Amino acid sequence: MSQKSIIILGIESSCDDTSAAVLKEAKILSNIIANQEIHKSYGGVVPELASRAHQQNIVPVVNEALKIANIKKEELDAIAFTRGPGLLGSLLVGTSFAKSLSLALNIPLIDVNHMHGHVMAHFIDEGKKMPTFPFLCLTVSGGHTQIVLVKSYFDMEVIGETLDDAAGEAFDKSAKILGLEYPGGPLIDKYAKQGNQEAFKFTKPRVGNIEFSFSGLKSNILQVIQRASQKNPDFIKDNLYDLCASIQYTIISILLEKIDNAVKKTGITQIAIAGGVSANSGLRNALIEREKTHKWSVFIPKFEYCTDNAAMIAISGYYKFQDEQFANSSVSANARMKL
Ligand code: KG4
Ligand code: ZN
Repeated sequence: MSQKSIIILGIESSCDDTSAAVLKEAKILSNIIANQEIHKSYGGVVPELASRAHQQNIVPVVNEALKIANIKKEELDAIAFTRGPGLLGSLLVGTSFAKSLSLALNIPLIDVNHMHGHVMAHFIDEGKKMPTFPFLCLTVSGGHTQIVLVKSYFDMEVIGETLDDAAGEAFDKSAKILGLEYPGGPLIDKYAKQGNQEAFKFTKPRVGNIEFSFSGLKSNILQVIQRASQKNPDFIKDNLYDLCASIQYTIISILLEKIDNAVKKTGITQIAIAGGVSANSGLRNALIEREKTHKWSVFIPKFEYCTDNAAMIAISGYYKFQDEQFANSSVSANARMKL
């Protein structure tokens, strides 16, 4: 008799997206994401509003994920949820929901580190080649910028990270200076396609070999724009596309320079990217180019697995399930959880 497939419900609520996914073995059957539009008008995520929106969204999002997957609650083998890092109020909603559901269904509960999830998105089975161990993963999101040395499914070492802002913040804060809506990363990406990336030069940080820093870049962009706007009040409007292209080019050059250094340091040439900023078309194209010029093997996730999603939590849960790494019912959210 063949063994029954493992079916897992993943839940992600670490920031401003409420997401639920159903996985069968390493394949994703559904991945529902409810974005919270409410933060747009505030220019950033408002934690209190985020947790309230998670409370409203979580039941319909989970029901939708089960419905699309055509799976009944009783068929689930385990519930995997994001324990941290993230906004505490947001994490609490997913954590308490996952705990109650696992208790009600009497099935194991699996706590997942959000950053582990971003890396693990590479192991979702989509019929494509997957990285083998060891590989390097550049995890670039709104809250983190890390180069991770991935030695196994569970052994991941951060070998370089940002000293201040994350790459996603660099995109979002630059976008704010340009008067664009939050989150500005995708808009910079969109407008950059029509601009000249060499139109403006911005300063790059001087930090360690595989460390990042983006706060100086933000001040430099602000200075350049303020100075030019004094002479021409329409400076941003007149140069929006070139500004976006130049900002994106600078951020990507910083990321690439650090990956180059990490490759030199470790000798590893399997390079993966993860996190919201890995949706950036400039970064994706630059890495595809490096695959040819540097003979790297590059791994780029599907768009829906780049930004926050529960599929990545479900796949982490799947590997932890097989290794019997379960949480007990007293597990609590951890806003500052380390990888
Ligand atoms: O991983 P994620 O969804 O949430 C966190 O864990 O932070 O990342 C969100 C970040 C935001 O800063 C957003 O602006 C950025 O990812 N982002 C992008 C793009 N899509 C999302 N940045 C640049 N280009 C994009 N296409
Ligand atoms: Zn994330």
